Amino acid sequence: VTGDLPLLDGRAIPRLGLGTYDLKDPAGTVEAALACGYRLIDTAAMYGNEAAVGEGLRRSGLDRDAVFVTTKVWGDRQADAAASARESLERLGLDRLDCVLIHWPAPWRGQYVEAFRQLLGLRDEGVVSSVGVSNFDASQIDRLEAECGERPVLNQVELHPRLQQRALREAMAARGVVVQSWSPLGKARDLGAVEAVAHRLGRTPAQVVLRWHLEIGASAIPRTDRPERLRENFGVWDFALSPEDHAAIAALERGERTGPDPASFG
Ligand SMILES: NC(=O)c1ccc[n+]([C@@H]2O[C@H](COP(=O)([O-])OP(=O)(O)OC[C@H]3O[C@@H](n4cnc5c(N)ncnc54)[C@H](OP(=O)(O)O)[C@@H]3O)[C@@H](O)[C@H]2O)c1
Repeated sequence: VTGDLPLLDGRAIPRLGLGTYDLKDPAGTVEAALACGYRLIDTAAMYGNEAAVGEGLRRSGLDRDAVFVTTKVWGDRQADAAASARESLERLGLDRLDCVLIHWPAPWRGQYVEAFRQLLGLRDEGVVSSVGVSNFDASQIDRLEAECGERPVLNQVELHPRLQQRALREAMAARGVVVQSWSPLGKARDLGAVEAVAHRLGRTPAQVVLRWHLEIGASAIPRTDRPERLRENFGVWDFALSPEDHAAIAALERGERTGPDPASFG
């Protein structure tokens, strides 16, 4: 597993990034993550931390183009998604977003197609480099393509060993849409389930789970407040899982969400 993941639009996204939902010190944690090698930062208008995330980016001293920044448009802004993304940009203190996602389809609103159209417009203006979605199913993605003539480049969904999303991953692969795992550690509720694999490899359970995401071809955005865990979670490039390890993790599937069901949320 090396290099960034190619996107349908010709760009590429880092495989591993920092999730920022509910961080206690978003600016400090973003700065620390960038210092330890992370180059993908995931935020959202709904997280209420975009200004602090922007502060962390500036404190890092890295070139703007060295870091991939994603934000998201919340359900109540789908009808004016372009304006919402511009407000995010202002709070972040940036002049360009790498990726903007529709946070949840919220199909009962009947607005996600319009939101996607507006975000493609921003992309055409150069304000946003790539447009993706989050928590969408395959039929919703097909509807975007049918009505807007383009697919989103990425679908960020809940994915971890207890919710492996096999059917959705196959559907996304068939469409060339990158899958990005949210709550990739399953919120650390059941890391003990991979203890035996971790012990055999001389790694931590979180490292085994994150390596599994990389090896199934997903991008993952684990979150932690703790500097030592930032390093731990990023230390997954120099080992590999065996076919037996993959089989052991495949057996952990429970169809169990830690977060809301996209059919009725957002
Ligand atoms: N698109 C969406 O709808 C959506 C929904 C949910 C989340 N997300 C994104 O996904 C990101 C990650 O999801 P998440 O925060 O829900 O869950 P997660 O990354 O699966 O788990 C975070 C939890 O795991 C703990 N943890 C982190 N590293 C660890 C390690 N090495 N060993 C043991 N425990 C560890 C953290 O505690 P400590 O902080 O104490 O280390 C925290 O409690 C979010 O921050 C957000 O950016 C997106």
